[in-house]
Amino acid sequence: MKDLLIDKIRSLKARVAVIGMGYVGLPLIQEFVKKGYYTFGIDIDPEKVRFLQEGRSYITDIKDSEIQEIIQTGRFFPGTSYEVLEEADAIIITVPTPLSKTRDPDISYVMAATESILQHLHRGQLIVLESTTYPGTTEELVKPKLEESGLRSGVDFFLAYSPERINPGDPVYRLPNTPKVVGGVDPQSTEVAVTLYQSIIQEVVPVSSAKVAEMVKLLENTFRSVNIALVNEMAIACSILGIDIWEVIEAAGTKPFGFMKFYPGPGIGGHCIPVDPHYLAWKLKTLNYNARFIELASEINTSMPRHIVTRVQDALNNIGRPVKGSKILILGVAYKRDINDIRESPALDIMEMLREKGAKLFYHDPYVPSFVVGGERFESTELNDEFLKSLDIAVIVTDHSNVPYDRIVRTGVLVFDTRNVLKGVQAPNILRL
Ligand SMILES: NC(=O)c1ccc[n+]([C@@H]2O[C@H](COP(=O)([O-])OP(=O)(O)OC[C@H]3O[C@@H](n4cnc5c(N)ncnc54)[C@H](O)[C@@H]3O)[C@@H](O)[C@H]2O)c1
Repeated sequence: MKDLLIDKIRSLKARVAVIGMGYVGLPLIQEFVKKGYYTFGIDIDPEKVRFLQEGRSYITDIKDSEIQEIIQTGRFFPGTSYEVLEEADAIIITVPTPLSKTRDPDISYVMAATESILQHLHRGQLIVLESTTYPGTTEELVKPKLEESGLRSGVDFFLAYSPERINPGDPVYRLPNTPKVVGGVDPQSTEVAVTLYQSIIQEVVPVSSAKVAEMVKLLENTFRSVNIALVNEMAIACSILGIDIWEVIEAAGTKPFGFMKFYPGPGIGGHCIPVDPHYLAWKLKTLNYNARFIELASEINTSMPRHIVTRVQDALNNIGRPVKGSKILILGVAYKRDINDIRESPALDIMEMLREKGAKLFYHDPYVPSFVVGGERFESTELNDEFLKSLDIAVIVTDHSNVPYDRIVRTGVLVFDTRNVLKGVQAPNILRL
């Protein structure tokens, strides 16, 4: 069974299905189709399916022309039906794993996808979970669910976990040149999953179990969260001490060993860094262990938007203005540079707090034409000089590369740069984090 599936994969005869065509699923589909596999894409959102069928992309990193290219191969089949799983040899799950309102893991999407796979599971299939989750999900939840079919993993079907490392907006590290960790629930499953990923990714890193692979992702993202929190605290310390944090980081970065540069900012956002460490903390809590680093890092990072608002308030106070009635422009609302994703973006918290204080709020983001904060709809404004000069302060929250920062500074408006995008620019109207 295993050798047959490996042969199918190697000869590109295997049919691949990806469940969840979002930021993770769509780039994966693109690589499988380009490689030559017939690839089914399943999503519960009919709007996304319609977009793809019309050759349009909804992800900044993938152009419309790239969607058209994969559709034109005749090997990409986007749809909403799970029926196609009957024909699939490899099924990859890339559905969301958010936090619930009580900040506990919500793996209902993963379990819904697993339930749907169960309806079509047959011998000789490989199932890989890529959604970020806590250690044990694949082995303790997905595996028993699939085995309700009467089939056995490692014998009749194969099951693995492989964390996704995609970094939206990164022009250097794309899917094929980012090493991929793979861990099966048994050695046979690892072998099959490694074979599949080796066909589209330059370096595959097998590990001894699905649990290890799950933990790898959580270590990576907890590492980022903790280090960002540390440098955010250093930024607050530097502002109290009247020291330029950015200069400190650059100088510390000249140490050739034992130091790695992280940068402070207005907070953390996106689907991963603010969320993933809580998956680990939650799992540990069920085992009576309190993950203190995770809690503290989260506390510091989530307090950054408030720190930014306090700094804005102080800056306005210095020019004799209250926040109430002040015209404030937020530059960049996506959670990071050059992407259109606003999930968990600190800009939303900052805007919400300033709105509550009665500011007259505007924003500009070339990637986000409009969105809703606190029930109010905002639209990205044009940056003409007359408008800029009428502002009390402009706050750079996200450092998109296609915003005319120099021109904004030249209008004389007070600019609060939380990202050091104005590095090297000297002007009396610039305030830095
Ligand atoms: N975005 C990232 O940068 C990133 C990086 C690494 C890992 N991850 C992880 O990958 C997973 C997916 O993240 P994403 O950013 O791609 O999310 P996303 O919201 O962009 O995409 C998920 C898609 O799954 C669909 N979906 C939900 N339930 C479904 C179901 N039962 N059947 C079919 N489709 C379903 C949604 O409609 C959506 O289109 C998450 O676990 C996330 O933590 C994300």
